[in-house]
Parts: sequence; C-alpha cells; structure tokens
Amino acid sequence: MSVVHFVGAGPGDPKLITVRGMELLQQADVLIYAGSLINPELVERSPAEVKLNSWGMNLQEIGDATEAAIRDGKNVVRLHSGDPSIFGSIVEQIDDLGQRGIKVDIVPGVSSMFAASAALQTQLTLKGVSDTVIITRPAGATLEKDLIPELSRLGTSLVIFLGTDKLESITSRLECPRDTPAAVVYHASWPDQKIVRGTVEDIAARAKKAGIERTALILIGGIVDPFTRYDRSVLYS
Ligand SMILES: C[S@@+](CC[C@H](N)C(=O)[O-])C[C@H]1O[C@@H](n2cnc3c(N)ncnc32)[C@H](O)[C@@H]1O
Repeated sequence: MSVVHFVGAGPGDPKLITVRGMELLQQADVLIYAGSLINPELVERSPAEVKLNSWGMNLQEIGDATEAAIRDGKNVVRLHSGDPSIFGSIVEQIDDLGQRGIKVDIVPGVSSMFAASAALQTQLTLKGVSDTVIITRPAGATLEKDLIPELSRLGTSLVIFLGTDKLESITSRLECPRDTPAAVVYHASWPDQKIVRGTVEDIAARAKKAGIERTALILIGGIVDPFTRYDRSVLYS
C-alpha cells in the first residue's frame, strides 16, 4: 500500500512551499487541506480530482477519506499549514492511519514563525539577547492550563501561536518587564500581512486598533527590537 504524504504548505505565500512539497501537490489525486490557513492558490495549483477542506472534519472522517483513496490506488496529499510539526495535530492522524495499515511520509514546511521573524527582519535567537526560543499557546478549548506567566519570566524569545483572540489576557499575565518589546504579525507572507510593534504593555491595544483578531503570531522579547542591544556573532567578528 502506498503512503500518504503530509506536506507543510508554508505560511501562506504559495512560493514558500518546498520544491518537494510542490512536486507532491502536483501529483496528488486527492488533496486534503487545512482550511483557510492554506492559500487557495496552492489548492488551485493541484490537479487533484478530489479536494477536501479538513476544517470541520473529524479524525475519523479524515481517516476514512484517506483510507478509501489509498485503497483505490490514489496519491493522497494531506496539506498542513506552515510546518506540520508545529500545532499540526499530525501524531493523532499518523496513529489513526497506522491502525488502518497506512504509512505516512512527512515533508517539512516553512513555519509561520519563520515568516514572522522574516517580516520583522530579526533573528529568533540573537547573541546577547536570547539563545532560547519558546513556542507555546494559551489555554483554550484544547489546553486546560498554559505556562505563559512562568515561561515569560525566563526572558527568552517567546512565540505564541493561536492566541490572537486572547491578546489582552495573554499580555496581562506576562511576568516579564512591561517595556519588553512585543510584536503581532498577522498573515505573515500573505499579501495583506500586517505588523504591529509595541511593548508588552501596549501591544494588545495596538493590535486591536489595527483590527487584528485572528491568524497572527505574538512575539515577545528583545529580538523584536534587536538593533540597540545585540552582540556581534563570533562567526563574523
Ligand atoms: C494550528 S496553528 C498551525 C501553525 C503552523 N503549523 C505553522 O507552522 O505555522 C495555526 C496558528 O498559527 C499561526 N499562523 C498560521 N499561519 C500564520 C501566518 N501566515 N501568519 C501569522 N500567524 C500564522 C496563528 O497563530 C494561527 O492561529
């Protein structure tokens, strides 16, 4: 039996999918894609005869559709936003498919956090500022309790996914200095990308004023405003 290809679509710009990912997309007979986080242009570029939006489908339905296609000898591509390993819920799918005797091959992608750091023209790790990046999300329907206050005390670069609608409550719970640089990047790499910069104190109000309510990343730490405080790397010294 052939394998299902899990492909990272990248952050939005259709040119930011990998060459391997695009090749697989163009050979797909059945495409299952992750809703509005996937640029419709990518979906259109696939010749797949069946294109399913996984938004609103449950694990069983995704597994059933995949299994039926694989048993029919079809090439199946499961397109995830960004990189599939970041809040991509792929392990449960691999597990479910494994129980159906179906193997998975994973093609990495450009995570939205890399598109956001590119938009901000910074590094997520920066000498003299932060050698550590924490990726996390706020509590919500799928997470009972988060560690955002504790993590923010460490003074590292903090990248918060899935929190745009909770910006005010997130920033009010941060335990780093209130003047710590912060940014919200909406739709990184899409044509309507928006960047809002500020501090932990005012970023929620600034993002609200800019009308950002979803599909954004929150970046906290000195890396957001790097030019005043970084040390030069040993490599280029
Ligand atoms: C389910 S997670 C998927 C993340 C994805 N696997 C990745 O690597 O970017 C969805 C969240 O990622 C963030 N996100 C995805 N695409 C984005 C983009 N282009 N710009 C900013 N944030 C994005 C938002 O926080 C969104 O709520």
